[in-house]
Amino acid sequence: MTRSVFRPDLLRGKSVFIAGGTSGINLGIAEAYADAGASVAIAGRDAEKAENAANHLRGRGGEAIGVSLDVRDYASVEAGLELARNRFGEFDIVISGAAGNFLAPALGMSANGFRTVIDIDLNGTFNIFRAAYALLRKPGASLIAISAGQATNPMMFQAHVCAAKAGINMLVKVLAMEWGPAGVRVNVISPGPIGGTEGMARLTPTAEEEASWKARIALRDFGQKSDVSEMAMFLASDASAYVTGSIFQCDGGWTLGNSSGETLGGEAR
Ligand code: HXC
Ligand code: NAP
Repeated sequence: MTRSVFRPDLLRGKSVFIAGGTSGINLGIAEAYADAGASVAIAGRDAEKAENAANHLRGRGGEAIGVSLDVRDYASVEAGLELARNRFGEFDIVISGAAGNFLAPALGMSANGFRTVIDIDLNGTFNIFRAAYALLRKPGASLIAISAGQATNPMMFQAHVCAAKAGINMLVKVLAMEWGPAGVRVNVISPGPIGGTEGMARLTPTAEEEASWKARIALRDFGQKSDVSEMAMFLASDASAYVTGSIFQCDGGWTLGNSSGETLGGEAR
């Protein structure tokens, strides 16, 4: 079981859909939600990976199904959401967390490379939330987009991710305004570097790079998947009933920046 400060039955009877929930950070959220009693549908492109991840959740005692879809394809998004709604009922919580990433300078990135990440992260989030809206339990549903610190802090070799995640942060604010009157909350979790994930394996392929990243984080370490899932528990629960259109950094202070670095010893230049 995921160690959580929240009540073990907090999400009993809740129906959850997690796009991009078949690995990494979002599978960590799926574990926490399933452990708290929710019925969880997890979706990714790879049907076998989705089924294995759902099996993993069921093995922990949760109720789960795997769904195969591509968030870039609106028809497949609609079909996947329908399938899950028919199984577990109208959604109380929907997470949009599918993402793609690779390190490349803008001049080493083809137009298709840039478009691919925008399509998965930003257009995928629009597709998931737009198609899920009709299938939400209203009032009361909570939508959560998974962004990243690149949304607010520019990073070289991440033009596609920075643009896509910045778009997600703004999209969420607009949806929160448009859907608030129906009792639908829409928020962002913006993780920093989380250890043991595909994302960080791609961004810090060597031990030296990992150490250099850690030196620039206020808390001097990578986060854990459970750090993000605890924030996702808060946003799924009534504890956040009056919270919408907000961006929650879960990043150890990474996006505060550390341009002065260690070398200045904290003293003014
Ligand atoms: C330059 C690259 C490239 C690379 C792919 N492309 N990798 N360009 N450098 N390393 C280009 C390809 O050449 C192609 O352009 C275009 O991108 C699409 O590539 P495909 O392989 O056809 O796309 P697809 O099969 O749809 O795969 C999407 C993908 C892939 C994003 C490229 O990496 C993927 O599926 N990723 C999902 C898993 C993932 O990335 N997880 C990490 C998320 S972490 P051309 O012009 O040749 O056709 C994250 C934030 C982390 O998002 C933040 C940490 C702080
Ligand atoms: P991950 O393990 O690679 O997870 C990505 C998920 O998205 C998988 O389930 C993947 O399944 C799915 N996916 C990818 N493309 C898809 C598509 N086109 N359609 C449907 N599903 C698709 O990544 P992670 O590192 O844990 O990151 C998870 C989320 O956290 C992402 O939104 C990422 O941007 C964000 N984030 C991560 C970090 C970090 O430190 N890792 C930091 C900040 C933000 P398939 O491959 O089967 O499609």
